[in-house]
Amino acid sequence: MSLLKRLGGTSQPTDATTAPPITAVAPPLPTPPAPTGSPPSEPYLATAGAGIEDALAPVDEQRMLELSLWIVDRIQASLGAQTELKRSPETERQLQERFARIYQQANVNLGAEQVKQLFTMVCDELMGFGPIQHLLNDDTVSEVMVNGHQHVYIEQKGRLKLTNVRFANDEHVLKVIDRIIRPLGRRIDRKWPMVDARLPDGSRVNAVIPPCAIDGSTITIRKFAKNKLKVDDLIRFGSMTPEMAEFLRACVISRLNIVVAGGTGSGKTTLLNVLSNFIPEEERIVTIEDSAELQLAQDHVVRLESRPPEVDGSGRVTIRDLVINSLRMRPERIVIGECRGGETLDMLQAMNTGHDGSLTTLHANTPRDALARMETMTLMAGMDMPLKVIREQIASAIDVIVQQTRLEDGQRKVAYITEVQGMEGDTVVLQDIFKLEILGKAPDGKIQAELRPTGVRPRFTPRLEAHGFKLPPSIFGAQIPGKKNW
Ligand SMILES: Nc1ncnc2c1ncn2[C@@H]1O[C@H](COP(=O)(O)OP(=O)(O)O)[C@@H](O)[C@H]1O
Ligand SMILES: [Mg+2]
Repeated sequence: MSLLKRLGGTSQPTDATTAPPITAVAPPLPTPPAPTGSPPSEPYLATAGAGIEDALAPVDEQRMLELSLWIVDRIQASLGAQTELKRSPETERQLQERFARIYQQANVNLGAEQVKQLFTMVCDELMGFGPIQHLLNDDTVSEVMVNGHQHVYIEQKGRLKLTNVRFANDEHVLKVIDRIIRPLGRRIDRKWPMVDARLPDGSRVNAVIPPCAIDGSTITIRKFAKNKLKVDDLIRFGSMTPEMAEFLRACVISRLNIVVAGGTGSGKTTLLNVLSNFIPEEERIVTIEDSAELQLAQDHVVRLESRPPEVDGSGRVTIRDLVINSLRMRPERIVIGECRGGETLDMLQAMNTGHDGSLTTLHANTPRDALARMETMTLMAGMDMPLKVIREQIASAIDVIVQQTRLEDGQRKVAYITEVQGMEGDTVVLQDIFKLEILGKAPDGKIQAELRPTGVRPRFTPRLEAHGFKLPPSIFGAQIPGKKNW
């Protein structure tokens, strides 16, 4: 079988969103010059395909990597260094011819599967993000983390795993970082060795290079979930009960101000997305985010996104600027992706001055911690306000804190739905309405837990009733004789 035939059908699914955008498409490719330098030493006996299972298997792919980069060098030399390739069936076909020619010059003998894998590696190097491209193509992978050239971790089904994906060296990692950020007009160098960027598909990328990254360049990619989880998914996964979902829907429609609290990756944005989708269709929604993650089904949505500064420090638009601006946009609902600083003060003031029904998330580990965090962030606004006044603002603005948590086995759950009842003296009074009880651990390591109502009806029940929600006492855990209490 000819090599070209063997290569037939190796085209990776074209993912226009993860492949870097084009700056130029190569015209019909000229004949490659004879290679200089010798190919890396034989034999190339890697056994894996480029699938995720293989990426996790303990095989040494070092030699395949070296060979692929050797071929890439030669293809690039034949194209001219500045040529950027756009992934398309036509480009792949043209690359196949070149690849076949150079592969033969390498004078190695690989099996059909290895040749296919090698071609995929070469394509990923030329038209994608190199060794991590197949991880980005895999929908079951939610994050990709490169810690220097030897360690690539992924998050899959909520768990962190070390893969056997490797870069050749730190320079190789730098090259991929450059491929990621250059089309976005961003820069990174020793003077400013970190960058935040968003890929065209919505995935978020952060990179840090030496001297700040001590053990080698790092890349963190939070992949954009193409299909955000829906409320039914959260119920099915056991992240919340149907009763909790019904309660939260009533809270959103009744225009309560809700804060979703949680740690990084605990599912805050996912839950905010679910809650925002409860907002009635006829209300005008303004969303404000650092990078647009929310996917709202409603039609009447205005999406705003903050903007990082230019290299000279100018042109920055913060979340806070956008929150202040949104008040002039006749919003009926303001949804803030995450409060991280002074915008908290503006949000609280908006909530207290008629913009009720607003939603946001913040980083905190318990509902009580969420209050402390809001205090600190309000102080970051730089206004000289006494703590008691800040607390009063928080207590009167926020109605509900929904605490999202990621258990050690990777499960995401709502740990608390807590009512903010008001102030007593100097203290904000919290009352849990639903709570997660940890029961133990199964032999397979899965944590056993149960979501339960606390038996307390929230004080804002009349507000829900005013919006037509007559929630039965059983939702809140009132004992009904003869009925099992969930
Ligand atoms: N309830 C859930 N069950 C399972 N996976 C979830 C759940 N909520 C979120 N996830 C997944 O966890 C990851 C992080 O979620 P995200 O909402 O972005 O977290 P955060 O905003 O807290 O950083 C995503 O991949 C998301 O799909
Ligand atoms: Mg988030």
